[in-house]
Amino acid sequence: MRQEIDYIGRSASVGASKTEPQTDQPWWQRAVIYEIAAISFQDSNGDGIGDLPGLRRRLDYLRWLGVDAIWLTPIYRSPMLDLGYDISDFRNTDPRFGSMEDFDRLVDDIHSHGMRVILDFVPNHTSDQHPWFVESRSSKQNCKRNWYVWADPAPNGGPPNNWTSRFGGSAWQYEPNTNQYYYHAFLVQQPDLNWRNPEVREEMAGILRFWMARGVDGFRMDASAVLAEDELMRDDPPNPTADENTPPPEHLKRVFTDDRPESMTYIEELRSVIDTFEERVLAGEVQGKTDRIGHFYGGERPRLHLPLNFALLDSPWDALSLQASIDAYFNAIPAGAWPTWVIGGHDKRRIASKIGQAQARNLAVLLLTLRGTPFLFAGDELGAEQVNIPSDRIRDPFEKLVPGHGLNRDPQRAPMRWDCSETGGFTSGEPWLPMSDADRAPNVQDAQADPLSLLALYRALIKLRKEHSTLIAGDFRPRRSRNDIITYERVDADASIMVALNLIDEPRLLEWNGSGVLLLSTGLDRDLDTVIGPLLLRPNEGVIIALK
Ligand code: GLC
Repeated sequence: MRQEIDYIGRSASVGASKTEPQTDQPWWQRAVIYEIAAISFQDSNGDGIGDLPGLRRRLDYLRWLGVDAIWLTPIYRSPMLDLGYDISDFRNTDPRFGSMEDFDRLVDDIHSHGMRVILDFVPNHTSDQHPWFVESRSSKQNCKRNWYVWADPAPNGGPPNNWTSRFGGSAWQYEPNTNQYYYHAFLVQQPDLNWRNPEVREEMAGILRFWMARGVDGFRMDASAVLAEDELMRDDPPNPTADENTPPPEHLKRVFTDDRPESMTYIEELRSVIDTFEERVLAGEVQGKTDRIGHFYGGERPRLHLPLNFALLDSPWDALSLQASIDAYFNAIPAGAWPTWVIGGHDKRRIASKIGQAQARNLAVLLLTLRGTPFLFAGDELGAEQVNIPSDRIRDPFEKLVPGHGLNRDPQRAPMRWDCSETGGFTSGEPWLPMSDADRAPNVQDAQADPLSLLALYRALIKLRKEHSTLIAGDFRPRRSRNDIITYERVDADASIMVALNLIDEPRLLEWNGSGVLLLSTGLDRDLDTVIGPLLLRPNEGVIIALK
C-alpha cells in the first residue's frame, strides 16, 4: 500500500482542502452506497444461498473498503420468483435469509461499524402468494378486492386494454373464478397493488414506519414510476423506434402506465412519512431516460432524495459521449438538486464487461469524483464481469419469458468471489448460481494483497473523498474534453481539484497550463508530487490533481 501511505502524508501537507468532513450536508450526500443482494454475498449455513448471518461476517471488509451505507435488495418473505421482488410478507424476513433476530443483529452491527442500512421497498406489487392477494382474488365482495387492480374483460372477452407486462405478454391475467382480469406490470405472480385505494397507501406507509422504528436508515423504492396507471385505461401507442430486434415488451410506449402524475403524488406521500423520522433517506428507481429524472425530485413537495441515475452505465465509452451524458444529466435535474451516480446493480450488466478492466479504473474515478452520491454493486470494486450461465441454470424470469435478447440478469447476480477456491469462499455448498471462473475472475483475497489492484484504487479513492471535502461538496466545473481525455474540476472556496481521464489505450496529452499536486493516478504507481502541465497521460490513465 505504498501510494496510500505516501498520499496520506502528502495530502496533509498540501493543505488544499479541509480534512474534516463537512457537517452541514446530510449523511446521504456524503455517503458511498454499496448495493448487496444478500442471496449472493455470503452464505453461512452451506445451503448455497447468501444470508444475513453471512453478511454480518463480512462487515469488516466493508468498513475496510470505506463504504458508508449498504442497500440490501429484498430480504422479506417471498417465493423468490424474482430475486425476492415478489413479497408475501412485508413485515418479516424470509427464513432463507434468516430470522428477524438475525436482522436486528445485522442492523446493530452495521451501525456499530459506523455504516447505515437502506432496505429495498417494493410498493408497486406483491407476490400472488401474499394473503392480501389470496383474499382479493377469492371474490368480488372480499374486503381486499380493491387492494389490487381488477377490470372487466373487453367486449370480446379479451384483456381490458393493450397494456403489456415488462416481462412480456399482456399485463392482464384472467381469473375465471370472478370473470375479471388483474393487472401486473411485471410477472403474472406479481399483481399490482391499487394505489388509488387509501387503505393500500396507509398500509404501505405503516410498513415504512415499521422498518424505520427497527433502525433502518432509509429505503430504495423499487419501480417508483409505475405505481399508478391511467384511470381511463387508455391504450398505449406503438413505440416508433421499435423494430424486429426490439424485445416484445418494448413494442409499445408506456405512456399510460409509467410516470403518471398520480404516482408522483404517492411518492410525495411516502416521502412525508420518511420525513417524520430523523436522518432517513428515500432513494428510488426511476424508469426511463435521463430527461425524465428531474421531476422525481419534486417541486413544492419533495419526492425522492436520491433518484438513481444510470447515465454512466448507459453512455458510450468515449470522452465526447461521456462529456455529453454527464452534461445532459446535470441539465436534467433541477437547480440545487443533489445528483446521484450508479455504476452497477442487480438489473444492469456488469460495466467492466463493456469497458474492460483498464477503463474500469477510470470509471471508479468518475464515480467517486463527480458531484453526487455514488452507488456501486457488490463486486464492482473488484472489476467483476458478466458470469456465463448455462441454459439449464438460468434463474431470471426475464430471460425465461423474453429469451434471446440478452436480457438475462443472472450474469451480474452471480455470488461474490472472496477467494480463488471453487466456490469462492461464498459457500461450502452448491452456489445458487454458477460462480465466476476461479482461475481468472478477481477475488477479494488476491485483490487485498495487491497494492495496485482495482480494489486498492477504490479504497484509495474513498479515502481521498473523505480527506478532501471539495470532492464531496464542491461545485462541478466542466472543462473542455479534448484528445480523448475527459476532464473537469471540483471547486469550492478552499480548493480546485482537477480530474482528467484518458479514455483510450494510447498515450494522450493533457493540455493544461498550470501546476498542482498529484493526489492520485489510476495506476497507483506515480510519485505524488508537484506536477506541471501539459501532462502526458499513459494509456487508460486517469489523474486527480489539486490545482495551485
Ligand atoms: C425492479 C427491480 C427488478 C424487478 C422489478 C420487479 O425493477 O429492480 O429487479 O424485477 O422491479 O419487481
